[in-house]
Amino acid sequence: MQMSKTYRIALLPGDGTGPEVIREGVKVIDAVAKKNDFKLDFVNYDIGGARYLKTGEVLPESIVEEFKKFDSMYLGAIGHPDVKPGILEKGILLRLRFDLDQYINLRPVKLYPNVETPLKDKKPSDIDMVMVRENTEGLYTGAGGFLRKDTPYEVATQESINTRFGVERCVRYAFELTKKRAKNNKLTLCGKTNVLTYASDLWQRTFNDIAKEYAQIKGDYVNVDAACMWLVKNPEWFDVVVTDNLFGDIITDLAAMIQGGMGVAAGGNINPEGVSMFEPMGGSAPKYNGMNIINPIATINAGAMMLETLGESKAAKDVDNAVVKALESGKIKNMSAGKMGLSTTEVGDLIASYL
Ligand code: IPM
Ligand code: MN
Repeated sequence: MQMSKTYRIALLPGDGTGPEVIREGVKVIDAVAKKNDFKLDFVNYDIGGARYLKTGEVLPESIVEEFKKFDSMYLGAIGHPDVKPGILEKGILLRLRFDLDQYINLRPVKLYPNVETPLKDKKPSDIDMVMVRENTEGLYTGAGGFLRKDTPYEVATQESINTRFGVERCVRYAFELTKKRAKNNKLTLCGKTNVLTYASDLWQRTFNDIAKEYAQIKGDYVNVDAACMWLVKNPEWFDVVVTDNLFGDIITDLAAMIQGGMGVAAGGNINPEGVSMFEPMGGSAPKYNGMNIINPIATINAGAMMLETLGESKAAKDVDNAVVKALESGKIKNMSAGKMGLSTTEVGDLIASYL
């Protein structure tokens, strides 16, 4: 008999409601692992605002080194009301993206059945796309600085760094994904070529070069401001979207809302050659802390993305089907915290029951 495969997962429940949603995510992916004959071996890390306030340490270098040895990482939420904005974001979330070279931020945008979208007359078949955001360059590198700080003549610069290498690996990933997804075979580059005549120009040229290798894929272009209009008016136009770090940050939040909000939106910080990290898009929601009313679906969806990336496609599909069935049952009334009609635990149990 063949020994079943074991994946080592670094678990980062984090702050606020993070541990509550991670508990349900682990419940569901553990159950699907059993069913599909593989094992998940979780190692817990107490990274987050609480640890920082207690020890003054944000993220020790030795722990980043440990993360590199895992098969994947599963994160609840980072963010604490008593920690000044920027410290945990830069010190943990961005640091991990950079140090682990998680150069893709992957955001499936899918409207599930019985989930309310603020878009009038749009159905699940209209909202089903994937956004590929570059995750290690652009305006996020921290390039720039102050001159004459705190004087009336202060200068602040913040530079967008775009390398041919960085853009190319991201665009290539998006073309491969479009091909594998085989939905509309359409890849939309989102930029701002009419104003950013250097950065967006590099993206456009790179995109056009790589497009030559993918004759079966329709290349498309949209300016980021127009993308915000079309995502609201005609989301059915989009299949896969590729964009830079800041544009991606903005349009993926817009996209999260049209798919029903933070309760369902999941994402992955992916290093296709290394260790990736999966997380719900919502934050630590401290006001709901400990109440067992936060929606765990986004975290469960992130778990499915993690399984897919580990190569367990069947198990990932099983989780997705279970989420669909749980939503179709009509037992979950609303996607918002406190309005689900069920507790966090009950939603996790319901989804697990369909596996
Ligand atoms: C996201 C978040 C982060 C970002 C913040 C928390 C640094 O908004 O994952 O989209 O801006 O990338
Ligand atoms: Mn964001």
